[in-house]
Amino acid sequence: MRTLRGAITGGIIALACAGSARAQDVQGRAAALAAWDDIHAVVSHPRCTNCHVGPSGLPLWEGLGYGGALGKEVVHGMNVRADDSRIGAESMPCRTCHISAASANSVPHAPPKIADAWRLPPIEMAWKGKTSAEICVQLLDPDRNGAFTPEELSDHVGTSAFVAWGFDPGAGRVAAPGSIPEMQEALAIWVVGGTPCVGDP
Ligand code: HEC
Ligand code: HEC
Repeated sequence: MRTLRGAITGGIIALACAGSARAQDVQGRAAALAAWDDIHAVVSHPRCTNCHVGPSGLPLWEGLGYGGALGKEVVHGMNVRADDSRIGAESMPCRTCHISAASANSVPHAPPKIADAWRLPPIEMAWKGKTSAEICVQLLDPDRNGAFTPEELSDHVGTSAFVAWGFDPGAGRVAAPGSIPEMQEALAIWVVGGTPCVGDP
């Protein structure tokens, strides 16, 4: 990542000699790509990807922290499946354990509780197992991002109880890197720089 940024900076210096308007574009794009790296660090974090999974409908227990006390098991225990409903309506509903009420979530290994119905996002919003470039393109695709504009994505980050929990999961779990304002700032820089994705022409 550092090497890539170094290369980009080198490119900016070269272009700055060629013409300043073009150099400014390139600089905005480089800043936007760096901001995307920060966004990607969040959306690829287990506090987010344990829910943002695909058609398997199996929530995950990856990277919980607790000093590795959970061992190697990564799929949600107790044979929990979200199925097509994404809330486990077909078998054992998420709310059986993940009660929809705000909680300090201070008891290790207790099911997280927030003031929203605990559920998996729709399949098309899956991030688990995807590359940075794939997630980037997906977040810009109205068919796969809940039809959110980039600005609305920022609003979602600011208001979603899931996102708030991911940055402050309590109970000794590892939190997603950064904070909500930092993620919103990174989104703003990414938007100003033209929402580039790694590998864009
Ligand atoms: C408990 C499961 C759960 C967790 C954990 C979770 N989300 Fe989500 N997420 C959802 C659901 C459900 C939706 C669909 C929108 C809705 O119903 O609010 C969603 C939608 C989204 C969306 C908008 C749609 C898209 O994919 O473009 C974003 C952005 C998002 N989540 C970000 C995050 C981030 C960042 C984290 C981690 C800090 C996170 N989520 C953690 C359940 C979760
Ligand atoms: C029988 C109780 C039970 C049911 C039902 C249940 N869960 Fe859980 N869930 C737990 C427990 C307990 C934990 C905490 C595991 C730990 O921290 O050791 C947990 C943790 C999780 C996590 C990990 C959060 C993190 O820290 O990254 C996700 C994701 C999750 N559940 C999703 C779901 C979804 C989606 C459903 C419904 C389809 C569901 N769970 C149904 C008990 C349950």
